[in-house]
Amino acid sequence: MSQTPRVQVLLEPDWASDSLAADVRRGLSTYPRTLPPRWLYDDRGSALFDEITRLPEYYPFTAERSILEAHADEIAAASGATSLIELGSGTSEKSRILLDAFTRTGQLTRFAPVDVAEGTLRQAADEIAARHPGVEVVAVVADFTLHLAHLPSGGRRMVAFLGGTIGNLYREERAAFLGALADVLEPGDSVLLGTDLVKSADRLIAAYDDAQGVTEEFIRNSLVVVNRELGADFDPAAFSYVPFWDPHMERMDLRLRAEVPQQVTIPGADLVLDLAMGEEIRIEISTKFRVSRIAEELEAAGLPVSRVWTDAAGDFALTLATRT
Ligand code: SAH
Ligand code: AVI
Repeated sequence: MSQTPRVQVLLEPDWASDSLAADVRRGLSTYPRTLPPRWLYDDRGSALFDEITRLPEYYPFTAERSILEAHADEIAAASGATSLIELGSGTSEKSRILLDAFTRTGQLTRFAPVDVAEGTLRQAADEIAARHPGVEVVAVVADFTLHLAHLPSGGRRMVAFLGGTIGNLYREERAAFLGALADVLEPGDSVLLGTDLVKSADRLIAAYDDAQGVTEEFIRNSLVVVNRELGADFDPAAFSYVPFWDPHMERMDLRLRAEVPQQVTIPGADLVLDLAMGEEIRIEISTKFRVSRIAEELEAAGLPVSRVWTDAAGDFALTLATRT
């Protein structure tokens, strides 16, 4: 079988500017001011996220990896999948553990990583195709909130959505996303969902306010993306980083706060923002879950849970749900 991955590009050529302009108009001109998280992952943002995963404070990556190392064979067997699709795959570093398990059973014929970060996706797909010559690798450059209906079909599919990325969506977005995913799956297909679990505020804050300031730079980089794509004149240094734990919503809330009153022009979105001193933009949320709530959200979408695995410390959960 070929070792060159097929690449399917579902994003429109002007996606980065057109869709960002719409998100900026909608998100920054209303209160609370927000930006959707997909804009954090230009080349610089993807590299910064990769650095985050190696920080001592950022436990979710190692916790999820330890679950996969302990249970990948069981997961492969329980899913019965012949086709593995990974949403928001990034470097696909952890799914390589799953791919090795699937290779041991010999059941997998296709791997389809899906991400908006095209450079990172292509590189991961090349590496995986070289390591798994018996598996067809199809890299899909797509937005998982828009393009689920166009995912590769055929065989029994398992859709992995790892890292806790579902927690970066708001509750209503999660419901829409899971509902759309259930709609495109066939009975017997499954979803492997990684979710970070509620824990002490101290550990959570340390994970998102690391000593080296990598997370702060990752969040601040979103303004650089808006400057580049939409010709805006944000001065990232005029904002301070404000990460906090919201115990009511059970989520980390990562904001940038204007340290001086300022006017920001965003020509590509036809927008002028007047920010008062102290005004905040919420750049990202990272929701933390309880096992019961994960099951509720999956089941409400028509995806009943078949298995749940956690790491030894109970920091992170991997849930397998099967489309009925
Ligand atoms: N799954 C990997 C990477 C998580 S980082 C891990 O567990 O380590 C989140 C990834 O999701 C990034 O690679 C980012 O580019 C991608 N992403 C974010 N929003 C997306 C969207 N709407 N559609 C597709 N990919 C998205
Ligand atoms: C990708 N996602 C699950 C990460 C998280 O932990 O919410 C993104 C991130 N933001 C800051 N640090 C990591």
